[in-house]
Amino acid sequence: MNNITKYFLLTLLIIIILISVYGIYSFIKPSRLGKEILNNYNLNYPAIIAHRGASNEAPESTVPAFKKALKIGADYIEVDVQRTKDGELIIFHDENLKRLSNVEEIFPKKADKNIDEFTLKELKKLDFGSWFNNAYPKKASPEYKNLKIMKLEDLIKMMKNKSTKTGLCIEFKYPEKYPDIEKQTVNLLEKTGWLEKQLKNNIPNLLIFSFSEESLKKIRDLSSDLIRILLLNDNMVSIGSWKNWTEKADEFAHGLAVKGFVSWPWHISSAHRRGLFVYSYVINKSWQLKILSRVKADGYITDRPELITSFFNRLEKITEELTGDLIEKQ
Ligand code: G3P
Ligand code: CA
Repeated sequence: MNNITKYFLLTLLIIIILISVYGIYSFIKPSRLGKEILNNYNLNYPAIIAHRGASNEAPESTVPAFKKALKIGADYIEVDVQRTKDGELIIFHDENLKRLSNVEEIFPKKADKNIDEFTLKELKKLDFGSWFNNAYPKKASPEYKNLKIMKLEDLIKMMKNKSTKTGLCIEFKYPEKYPDIEKQTVNLLEKTGWLEKQLKNNIPNLLIFSFSEESLKKIRDLSSDLIRILLLNDNMVSIGSWKNWTEKADEFAHGLAVKGFVSWPWHISSAHRRGLFVYSYVINKSWQLKILSRVKADGYITDRPELITSFFNRLEKITEELTGDLIEKQ
């Protein structure tokens, strides 16, 4: 081995030791700034966000899943918003209808089409609950048969009528397909009085999520008070890219939401140093929760809000049995 190789290996070894020491230090002493950052926005710490409702217990994005999340006392209900062919804002995650409805039976000729090619009247003919009974017989309920798609307005009205403390977390799904969906959504929130509620109590009852920078910038320009969170998936977060994301997000967002396994403590602390909070998704298992609470994630996006609320001793009185069995979904 020549001297150059020796120096190279020694330098590499020193770098590896320094990174490991920093990594271990970050685990032992994670950033505690998140609470302060969330308190500055009057947000609960840590935030508990029911992903598509309590979707481990009832068909995702349907009335029963939303009602369960409200009963459990989640801080927010997360919904994916898209638009029908005739311009209605609806709550639905997937691009097409095959996984979550009986579209193949009712509209065999257009079953492969995307949801934006259906009118609301057509979508109302579909059953969005029976798939769940078939896939998870232990959790099945007659109540889930023939559940209807919800307009965003329906959920807002339902939540207003219940005068709940739970807020809404709106994700614009495929916003590039839906010109001006941001403006349409803000108009709806204004029309229904949802934004007034936020101003009256001074507690944000609305979070806006998006993978799209453009969407978040549009929301900032429409209503700068709204809390905006940039979603990042695992492909977007590579070694070295985190700094760029935090710099970018700092321009137009208040926080980031990232997959649980890239919620590294050094990511969280560098985001905190910029004043950004970090939520983790989708956290459905106790071991994930233990690690993430250790490294001080600022919020949990979960199909199982009951798991997180009970972990943080915030479980409100639940009047019904939840099976707790974990389901895997797209
Ligand atoms: O909350 C993050 C999450 O909603 C983004 O992923 O696919 O579940 O909408 P997805
Ligand atoms: Ca979503």
